[in-house]
Amino acid sequence: MKTILVTGGLGFIGSHTCVNLLESGFRVLIVDSNKIASNSIIQRIKQIGKLNNLDFTKKVLFFEGDIRDETFLTNVFDKARKNGTNIDAVIHFAGLKSVKESVRNPLKYWDVNVNGSINLFRVMNQQNCKTVVFSSSATVYGYYNKDLTEDLDLNPSNPYGFTKVAIEKVLKNIFDSDKDNWRIANLRYFNPIGAHPTGLIGENPKNIPENIFPYICQVALGIRNKLFVFGNDWPTKDGTCVRDYIHIMDLAEAHKSALNFLQNNDPQNIDLNIGTGKGTTVLELIAEFNFANKCSINFEFANRRNGDVAQIKADIKKVSSILKWNPKNNLKNMCIDGLKWQKLNPNGFE
Ligand code: WQD
Repeated sequence: MKTILVTGGLGFIGSHTCVNLLESGFRVLIVDSNKIASNSIIQRIKQIGKLNNLDFTKKVLFFEGDIRDETFLTNVFDKARKNGTNIDAVIHFAGLKSVKESVRNPLKYWDVNVNGSINLFRVMNQQNCKTVVFSSSATVYGYYNKDLTEDLDLNPSNPYGFTKVAIEKVLKNIFDSDKDNWRIANLRYFNPIGAHPTGLIGENPKNIPENIFPYICQVALGIRNKLFVFGNDWPTKDGTCVRDYIHIMDLAEAHKSALNFLQNNDPQNIDLNIGTGKGTTVLELIAEFNFANKCSINFEFANRRNGDVAQIKADIKKVSSILKWNPKNNLKNMCIDGLKWQKLNPNGFE
């Protein structure tokens, strides 16, 4: 059984990826600094296993700590080795992800995201663990008025995006220094939404959701009064922004596929777009959400949000060809699964 270290494994994407890895027979070591909800999330991951007659008890371990702490990370690797469960690879999610907050507090983002990643890669190198799937983002591209392909120049428009580009460049330099041993995949996510179909885990924004989907779910439950649609004068089919929404379960599967690909192929450093290749306007998302959940989301148009762009949509030919991965869920699934999570957990994991 292979052992995978998942940094940020208690987060929205990390927790769904851990479930996918456990269901696929991996052992998972979760490193996360989240103090508040860790027990609840771990218990729910195990509960999902039980629902599928799988016992995750001995296959998921949690280590509370910060990836900027080299001693803590080294201890995690040492403990795994002492237990006879050497860490075979790392999936690296840990980091801050708010565009708005990164503009207000860039130093925090450069410290946590970049220094944290450098520390992790340093410990991996010392421990001779040289396979990593990195949680990157479509934000690295900046604005292009076309479907995004991995070969485009990277021109992020916010500090968060710059940290993701910086981490990809650090990984490129590490790879170039030791091409015979490092296996690296940068997964550039588009807009992950939805939740696990059981409703046991899902997106758990700390305060008022910045992202549209959790906000819509809270409007649907009456937690928020209405959705403000940021601009209806964009150069798109209905004047609202186009995004490439992908079900979190498909995104989790993409991580497992990338991991298997790296472990079964020669050392390499690849960039992969993880989206659906389908564009959806904000008004189309609202309409699909209403149809799927038989509800009526109250909304009004507001000014454009700083930093937004008209369209962000993936070209997924490369990931489909290399990983033989394709998204299985449609927008309706995303809307149904996302609201189910919110209904069952109006206050998130707390
Ligand atoms: C989607 C659309 C808004 C909220 C961000 C990050 C990206 C990635 C995903 C980390 C936009 C509109 C939003 C609202 C609205 N995260 N909107 N009212 O901005 O595409 O991407 O999250 O990797 O890096 O940039 O996602 O959900 O914030 O916005 O009208 O209350 O919904 O204008 O067009 P975004 P989002």
